[in-house]
Amino acid sequence: MLLRVNAITDETPSIKTFELVDPEGLDLPIFTAGSHVDVTLPDGQLRQYSLCSAPIERHRYLLGVLRETNGRGGSRQMHDRVAVGELLQVSMPRNNFPLEASASRHLLIAGGIGITPLLAMVHSLQVLRADFELHYCTREAAQTAFLALLGSDGVASRVRLHHDDGVPGRGLHVAALLTTVTPGTHVYCCGPAGLMAAVKAASAHWPTGQIHFEHFAAPVASVLVGAGAVFEVEIASTGAVYPVPPDRSILSVLLSEGVPIDSSCEAGVCGACTTRYLSGEPDHHDFVLSDAEQREHVMVCVSRSKSARLVLDL
Ligand code: FES
Repeated sequence: MLLRVNAITDETPSIKTFELVDPEGLDLPIFTAGSHVDVTLPDGQLRQYSLCSAPIERHRYLLGVLRETNGRGGSRQMHDRVAVGELLQVSMPRNNFPLEASASRHLLIAGGIGITPLLAMVHSLQVLRADFELHYCTREAAQTAFLALLGSDGVASRVRLHHDDGVPGRGLHVAALLTTVTPGTHVYCCGPAGLMAAVKAASAHWPTGQIHFEHFAAPVASVLVGAGAVFEVEIASTGAVYPVPPDRSILSVLLSEGVPIDSSCEAGVCGACTTRYLSGEPDHHDFVLSDAEQREHVMVCVSRSKSARLVLDL
């Protein structure tokens, strides 16, 4: 989709929101809370941003973007080069982080800009009149975005703000929050790697299906392209077989052989390259698929194969 930047708002000195609308004023495709879109930046790179507006709003998508001075440059382009009135190429929404419909309670844990997918969840849970609690961790009040929404009627009583003032150990006590496994409660976490790791460790005794993470970047040293031995991928529909050397991904081999396959992040976090496999044993390295999903699908941008051949349903 080509969407027009209708408004840009400074939420904090380093976080802006971008309101995107259809240039003709048409309704935008429906999305569900937790969804993200791929945005094509001015230099042609793709970045994933969560939709933080209310899913019931059809006239706009709202993206929250933190300007990361030491990042790969995508957020700096959004902050410094994108202006109101410009058109941005935006993918259809994709959701790897949905609310669990069967949950009786939702425990949301956000760190910094990781609040964005959880904001959409807050909107939806309010509409559903569902039981939820949001823990929002930031360094200090001045760096805390979206306080107007989070302080509004019907939401404020469910929000706990935690500021650590940059002091490790201060702020949210994740282990205490997750000590007791509560049947029916689902936990959703999005934030910096440290917070995600802390929640993962503190929830190790919870059933994995009750804990949900949204990654925007692969944790360091998790992408294992370059590791392991050569293996083969077979395209089921044609019988074509291609070797995948240690220093290339399945995705890169398939694309260079002219096999069309969707991709975006190339880091195992966006879900674009999800591919069904028919036989073989993948060596999964993604951060999206559940255990059950990994029994049928593989993310070809980061995953490899433990078996000598992996047959893809392509
Ligand atoms: Fe994003 Fe593979 S391209 S998960």
